[in-house]
Amino acid sequence: MRTYRIAAIPADGIGLEIIPEGIRVLEALEKRTGSFRMTFETFPWGSEYYHAHGRMMPEDGLETLKAFDAIFFGSVGHPSVPDHISLWGLRLPICQGFDQYANVRPARILPGIRSPLRDRGPEDLDWVVVRENTEGEYAGVGGRAHTGHPEEVGMEVSVFTRAGVSRIMRFAFDLARKRKRRQLTLVTKSNAQRHGMVLWDEIFQETAAGFPDVATDRMLVDAATTRMVLRPETLDVVVATNLHADILSDLAAALSGSLGMGATANLNPERKYPSMFEPIHGSAFDIMGKGIANPIGTFWSAVLMLEHLGEAESASLLMSAIESVTARGDRLPRDLGGTATTREVTDAVCRVLSS
Ligand code: IPM
Ligand code: MG
Repeated sequence: MRTYRIAAIPADGIGLEIIPEGIRVLEALEKRTGSFRMTFETFPWGSEYYHAHGRMMPEDGLETLKAFDAIFFGSVGHPSVPDHISLWGLRLPICQGFDQYANVRPARILPGIRSPLRDRGPEDLDWVVVRENTEGEYAGVGGRAHTGHPEEVGMEVSVFTRAGVSRIMRFAFDLARKRKRRQLTLVTKSNAQRHGMVLWDEIFQETAAGFPDVATDRMLVDAATTRMVLRPETLDVVVATNLHADILSDLAAALSGSLGMGATANLNPERKYPSMFEPIHGSAFDIMGKGIANPIGTFWSAVLMLEHLGEAESASLLMSAIESVTARGDRLPRDLGGTATTREVTDAVCRVLSS
């Protein structure tokens, strides 16, 4: 029996509501297939922990997480803690510390879901956004000087390294090669940003030479947003920087029906460290504690986790269970136009898995 140790970090907001439901679905899947076993250890890190201990996670947090096969993460952020503190205290140190440089965000219009794009269905939108996840605009480099004085300055320095760009390019080309359309679009802003972004263009070109079977094109990020809305069927895999892909992946999730659908894998492809799987929606203070959060982004992230662990068959079984619930349409959460609670959506997926 293949056994996996999973670290669960629900953290803040609706993360506390959807991670237990994700675990419930994985347990139902485990029962159904009998082919793997997962044990979950839940860590109470996040903003409440911050108020009690002055930090978002213990000093040896990464050391603790290292022993796990994967991390199942909810969302971080609370009105009582400044966002840059909560983010830099928990999620970003895990991504950077575990060198999870490939952030993978699939987006599809699942059967039965109505896209905000008029007359568009499943055959029109099937993308994967690949986001560089350890450097670029979120490298954390910069500083402030003259604090509090009229000449105060804040510098946010984007860092693009040949090593960092090359590895995300290779990853994106490899991923594109495995898909039906085998198409990769590079998104940058190399007309206005003439240093780092031109480096991206050059390394993209160099890497493409090793992947003659992958069709390529390039777009500026502003134009990419209009293409996503107006000609979604022309895109397949998109590779972009930390900031650009952060923005584009929210748009991708919304166009696929709702931000609540968005799923993420933060991968360390070399498997030197555990990878982390999370929905992209964030802690959503406006609906927290109401039991109405959409858990599908979390379930889809669980699918990505299973794929990464090598449980391809179980992964596709879970994905089909999600799709049969969306196709039936009578257990959709509110953000998708339904009335089902988080628990009811989960129950529906578990029911499909046990039938
Ligand atoms: C995401 C989120 C985070 C990010 C937030 C919480 C800063 O928006 O996963 O896309 O940008 O990395
Ligand atoms: Mg984001």
